[in-house]
Amino acid sequence: MRKPLPCVFLFFSIVVSAQFVFGSKSVAIKGSHRLGVVGDKGGILVFQMQAHMGAKGVVKERMLIMKSYASSMKKINKELRDKTSVNYALIKLEANDIVESSQKVMELFPPGSGGGMSEASLKIWQQPSDFKKIIEELNQAAQRLAQATSTGVPNLVIEKFRTLGGTCKKCHQKYRVKKKV
Ligand code: HEC
Repeated sequence: MRKPLPCVFLFFSIVVSAQFVFGSKSVAIKGSHRLGVVGDKGGILVFQMQAHMGAKGVVKERMLIMKSYASSMKKINKELRDKTSVNYALIKLEANDIVESSQKVMELFPPGSGGGMSEASLKIWQQPSDFKKIIEELNQAAQRLAQATSTGVPNLVIEKFRTLGGTCKKCHQKYRVKKKV
């Protein structure tokens, strides 16, 4: 029982100091201007912040929208894999979801909302009109996909789906800086 103790202690001190080094930044952000809000709403808000690993407010909201895009794209892709049994109604629904939510994407990127947990590139606020233009392209491409579903021609729908996917990629290449491993 005596031998492993120093190892355990060493392990703990590494964990604690790692938290101090890596965790101090987000703790500082959490602590600074949000403390009043945490105090007002009690434990619920604290719990939510932990559940989202520190992302909150508009950053959390835009991450959730982006996640819903990814989920829509996945569902549409799955439908189009077997061209003989495509559920066009489902594709239309998902595409229209993207159309609708893309209208508020710009609001979720207010100036100064980068940094911290966010993967948003600072270029967004240096070239806001170009960023906005790509959101518009996303909106248009999703509309065209929704319209194409009424033709029932799989290759046409696939083509529109690819164009839509291209707008995700285009924006990410320019304006998203991947941080996660
Ligand atoms: C106009 C630009 C733009 C378009 C178009 C766009 N994205 Fe994003 N996306 C971003 C930015 C910027 C981030 C990083 C946001 C942040 O971390 O603050 C992001 C993040 C994400 C994430 C990570 C979310 C998270 O939880 O961290 C996913 C997934 C994603 N996008 C999927 C998509 C898909 C799928 C599409 C197309 C249907 C799409 N995006 C279209 C700009 C865009």
